[in-house]
Amino acid sequence: MNNKVLVTSALPYANGPIHLGHLVEYIQTDIWVRFLKMMGRDAIYICADDAHGTAIEIKANAEGISPEKLIAGFQEEHYRDFLKFHIEFDFYGSTHCDENRKWAETLYNALKDGGHVVSKEIEQTYCATCGRFLPDRYIKGSCPNCKAEDQYGDQCEMCNSTYNPTDLKDAKCTICESAPTRKKSTHDFVRLGDFSGMLEEWINAPGHVSEGVKKFVGQWLKDGLKDWDIMRDSPYFGFPVPGHKDKFFYVWLDAPIGYISNSERWCEKNNRDVEKDYWRNPDTEIYHFIGKDIIYFHTLFWPAMLKAAGLNMPNAVYVHGFLTVEGKKMSKSRGTFITASTYAENLDPQYLRYFYASKLGDNLDDIDFSFKDFENRVNAELVNKIANLASRSISFVSKRFAGKLSTLDEAGKELINKALAVKDKVAGYYQDRNFAAAVEQVCRAADSANLYFQESAPWALIKEDPEAAKRVCTAAINASRILAIYLQPVVPVYAASIRAMLNEGEAQYRWSALETLLEDCEIERFTRLVEKVEEKNVKQMVEASIVKEDKKEVVMEVPALEETIDFSKFMQVDIRAARIAEAEVVADSRKLLKLTLDLGSLGKKTVFAGIKKSFPEPGKLVGKTVAMVANLEPRKMKFGMSEGMVLAAGKDDEHLSLLELDASVPLGQRIT
Ligand code: MSP
Ligand code: ZN
Repeated sequence: MNNKVLVTSALPYANGPIHLGHLVEYIQTDIWVRFLKMMGRDAIYICADDAHGTAIEIKANAEGISPEKLIAGFQEEHYRDFLKFHIEFDFYGSTHCDENRKWAETLYNALKDGGHVVSKEIEQTYCATCGRFLPDRYIKGSCPNCKAEDQYGDQCEMCNSTYNPTDLKDAKCTICESAPTRKKSTHDFVRLGDFSGMLEEWINAPGHVSEGVKKFVGQWLKDGLKDWDIMRDSPYFGFPVPGHKDKFFYVWLDAPIGYISNSERWCEKNNRDVEKDYWRNPDTEIYHFIGKDIIYFHTLFWPAMLKAAGLNMPNAVYVHGFLTVEGKKMSKSRGTFITASTYAENLDPQYLRYFYASKLGDNLDDIDFSFKDFENRVNAELVNKIANLASRSISFVSKRFAGKLSTLDEAGKELINKALAVKDKVAGYYQDRNFAAAVEQVCRAADSANLYFQESAPWALIKEDPEAAKRVCTAAINASRILAIYLQPVVPVYAASIRAMLNEGEAQYRWSALETLLEDCEIERFTRLVEKVEEKNVKQMVEASIVKEDKKEVVMEVPALEETIDFSKFMQVDIRAARIAEAEVVADSRKLLKLTLDLGSLGKKTVFAGIKKSFPEPGKLVGKTVAMVANLEPRKMKFGMSEGMVLAAGKDDEHLSLLELDASVPLGQRIT
């Protein structure tokens, strides 16, 4: 029996662009589903935008548009980006739809009817100016532990300590900057603990999650599951909770429910019943692909909700690691936060599919996108091994043999049999999501085929024995065809081009097409397959991804000139050469350095200079001769008396240059 299969990827948030990190997941899932379909499985791939939550509501507010308009824009953009990468959803929807509202209410009621929901009064951080409760991300202040400024309400990025937003010093609302207060509210909580026994069993049953994931979840279960707050207060963009005023379902309640509602929308179009055929059908298989940051939601909350509603639990939750670029977390300032659309403007999306496939296994390991590795792999394998064989053999046949194939000779048969011998192995690797191993097998088969072609040298052979040369090409083309079918889940457009050149029509290959042998038939002319990755395109992509943090300054209007001063006024500014004798950071100040300036026979002066952000290592300033305004009226500052000013200029605090003088200028000399 051909069981139905429902596969999902996590639903991307509808408030930002798709980037290369996301694509790890969507490419991974797409490869798997394409493989299942090639095997003749009745599989569907469902995804959607995750459209609710505070971030979306605030972003829409800031842009002066409705949240509906904001999410519609992102949904379209996301879908377009996915298409560029040949990610083929059977349905791509949104969590903001009637079906999802209905299912959210259904699952909430099921949890309630099962006695798993309790009401509790809680106290949260609240901004009276904005009239809203503030999630941790919307509160900033100084870390109570290390005093670093500008830290979020839950965790310090400098010292990694975690705390409550109430512990922050000088806490501010990030929207309006006013100091938050506390306010009480009553929320519904799901008693997750009710499900711990069931969850423990589910996690430990074979196949549901990998060993790595089991460890995480096992620890959480051991620590005890806390009640889960499923409500948020107005203003919020989401579904109102029935029977409650100004309360909404928390985005993470209705997000996974999007898997059900969007499969229902597919069913409506395809004449199937979402419950009978999928979520209540014991023979249907359900698989979720997710990243390692959202394991908790998918292995604890989600199965508990499904259980409470008597719906099918997933057959497996497959978790992948995170993408780093050049060994580091993606960064906008380094140009390594690369969006799907910027990538696609510069490089062939199939390269990325191939590269990710060659890195992906069934584990939680992070994947690194190193530019050199990317270039080398794609060029050495996809371009030079796989496409090159096809290109040489197909061009040769169309030029020299008028596009006609003959039959295989013994050596050719041996080659094809060898390539086909790994068929089940490759299929097994795909099935187990060990794509790296699948790709490796294909590369080995390509090596044998290239060796055969090179050694048989049809370009020489044709002079003495044209028929033999034709047979060699026939074998090489059949080998290329097998490689293309093997790689179709990874590089579907490549496989489609091969298929078209071999006159096999426009539809996709099935796995069973491997058995077909092309002999005594005509093929089409060669058309280009894949180009080499050029380093300059990678560079261009990075350049285009660099986000200048100081965009604001660039667009700022240039202020009008001040009133003129006469020359004698200018000459009143007494600028002298001084050596920086000491330079130290001022604790508790973000901007100031304390400088001791040596003016030679004129003595020493202390200056508090706002240059710390440009010179984070003040020691390096010591010994430099600089220009200082020496007759500025001393100013009492919080940290002491400042007796002048050093001359420095730059576009902002982080880019200052000191007016540095030659060391030979005598200290104390007037320099204007
Ligand atoms: N909206 C939630 C998921 C709800 S599922 C019911 C969410 N969205 S997300 O846009 O932040 O992430 C979508 C998926 O992309 C997640 O599985 C996440 O792990 C994955 N990735 C996001 N950044 C990633 C990397 N840098 N690397 C690999 N995967 C990444 O979470
Ligand atoms: Zn505020």
